[in-house]
Amino acid sequence: MTVRNTQTGSNITIRPTRPEDFDHVLPLLHQLWPAKPLDLGAARAIFDRGLASENRAYLCAGDGDEIIGFGTLIIRDCLWLQGDVGYICDLVVDQERRGTGVGTALVEKMIEIARLRGCLRVELDSGFHRTEAHRFYERRGFAKRAFLFSRVLE
Ligand SMILES: CC(C)(COP(=O)(O)OP(=O)(O)OC[C@H]1O[C@@H](n2cnc3c(N)ncnc32)[C@H](O)[C@@H]1OP(=O)(O)O)[C@@H](O)C(=O)NCCC(=O)NCCS
Repeated sequence: MTVRNTQTGSNITIRPTRPEDFDHVLPLLHQLWPAKPLDLGAARAIFDRGLASENRAYLCAGDGDEIIGFGTLIIRDCLWLQGDVGYICDLVVDQERRGTGVGTALVEKMIEIARLRGCLRVELDSGFHRTEAHRFYERRGFAKRAFLFSRVLE
């Protein structure tokens, strides 16, 4: 999937992430979670496991050799839905390139994959402070329908 960036005139390609992309995805993850120290070994292991899993699609947005966006889709089953749901995680676009259509292209590609996999919905959770992202999702047809409850295990 290729999207024309009208601001820069460049072509943005939405493509599956490859193992060698890890070092380029890492700075984007730092932008997504600026206060969180990342354990590189643990992140690498999860990244590699995700790439190998048939129930996950790791996508990135490339502008030439540069990776300017990233997001993951997890396919999981759901008794309530009586079918599968595509769960969007880790969506982030480089802060210099936001507002130019890259996030929309990543979400559209994830929706396309979820449909092809027979999912009945796409869903995600998003922190309270991400008000701009909430507006982004709502303007793309996502509706708030639940709270996320989370407990730390010690
Ligand atoms: C949310 C995010 C992925 C959207 O990607 P994007 O490439 O900026 O999105 P697009 O250019 O396709 O669309 C821009 C839309 O998002 C909105 N937007 C949200 N955050 C924005 C930001 N930081 N900069 C510019 N636009 C932003 C714009 O107002 C615009 O709204 P509209 O088209 O509905 O009027 C991206 O802004 C981002 O990485 N934000 C920080 C990380 C984050 O919060 N991720 C979501 C985790 S749940």
